[in-house]
Amino acid sequence: MASQFLLLAFLAITCAIASASDPSSLQDFCVADSKASVPVNGFVCKDSKLVDANDFFFSGLHLAGNTSNAVGSRVTPVNAVQIPGLNTLGISIVRIDYAPWGINPPHTHPRATEVLTVLEGSLKVGFVTSNPENRLITKVLQKGDVFVFPVGLVHFQQNVGYGNAVAIAALNSQNPGVITVANAVFGSKPDISADILAKAFQVDKNTVYNFQSKF
Ligand SMILES: *[C@@H]1O[C@H](CO)[C@@H](O)[C@H](O)[C@H]1NC(C)=O
Repeated sequence: MASQFLLLAFLAITCAIASASDPSSLQDFCVADSKASVPVNGFVCKDSKLVDANDFFFSGLHLAGNTSNAVGSRVTPVNAVQIPGLNTLGISIVRIDYAPWGINPPHTHPRATEVLTVLEGSLKVGFVTSNPENRLITKVLQKGDVFVFPVGLVHFQQNVGYGNAVAIAALNSQNPGVITVANAVFGSKPDISADILAKAFQVDKNTVYNFQSKF
């Protein structure tokens, strides 16, 4: 009985201190000092007396991104690089524009879960669960719909409407990071050797060279 009680107490304490976001701040804010040269995890804080409204401000998400590229989409990021006041706060936002049939190719954010809201158009979205199931979870979204991409999972969007599509996505990191699968695997610098990729993808080396030439 006593040991069961201790176990429950231990679980309760463990759950109470478990954290699903960046660690709590010890001050109101830590506006990034872009001039500091000290390497820290994130950015060094600017003197709070020198902080002003512009440190918490970005203008431009009303502007459509240029989707004239191979995939037909454009991500406009607003993270701690664009808004120094986001430093240490564990949150950021992006605007994503999609040309008709444009895609945001399969990618992952190593440090953030994403909540995407469709502002215009229709998007087919999806993510793949981790090994060994690798289950694909997809849905077609309309204007006003919201969808979650859990942290670390490979996900994508495709514009399946007639016109342009626009989405806004919030991410729970000041610097979510992006790993685009095709670019990371076939466009690394230097290349991952073709024999490794040929075996990994179960194709011949010429197929690998062909993919590598595109990234
Ligand atoms: C959009 O990008 C394309 C390709 O880089 C470029 O040719 C074009 O001028 C850009 N359009 C605008 C409006 O910036």
